[in-house]
Amino acid sequence: METIYLIGFMGAGKTTVGKILADLLGYSFYDLDEYIEKTAAQSIPEIFAEKGEAHFRLLEARALRSLPVRQAVVATGGGTAAGRGNLSYMLEKGLVVHLAGDFSRMYARAAGDGRERPLIAAKSREECFRLYQSRLPFYRKAHFSVDTTDRSPAEIARTILERLKERENGKTFPEKAERKDEREYE
Ligand code: S3P
Repeated sequence: METIYLIGFMGAGKTTVGKILADLLGYSFYDLDEYIEKTAAQSIPEIFAEKGEAHFRLLEARALRSLPVRQAVVATGGGTAAGRGNLSYMLEKGLVVHLAGDFSRMYARAAGDGRERPLIAAKSREECFRLYQSRLPFYRKAHFSVDTTDRSPAEIARTILERLKERENGKTFPEKAERKDEREYE
């Protein structure tokens, strides 16, 4: 099967759910942020601090395009779907799943899970909420969405798996998006 891309705001549980889903499917798992850090030999906060967010977005878009497009689960970063034709790329190459949830819970998790997130550190809660709202239109273009509220990562992974099985049995998701906003990348 084509690669499954998990999208959604910081703290949605993309990495935790992605690992479980990859195990269930027997696919490779990639955390896009981790992949960027390895390739750049720098942590995400270091990249933001030294080279700025625009540079991070460039690395992110490149990293996304260097991961396998089959038999993999990719946990993207919260901003991946909103940048540089990334969403059209994912919709075209694979299956895009939005982990949707309640902003307050995602924010609390993102602020308190021990992972350093430069955007959380630099912005107020109000600014983060506005960022979240600005990203919703992108997240909502996913092939399908799974509500994460009050559900464990294992339950969420199993729900995704069920939806994938339905698809194998002939149920179709919304048409794959045309690559309208796709731009050439180098
Ligand atoms: C970001 C989310 C982070 C990471 C970076 C920027 C964002 O990933 O890519 O700090 O723009 O929302 P997580 O969603 O895994 O925290």
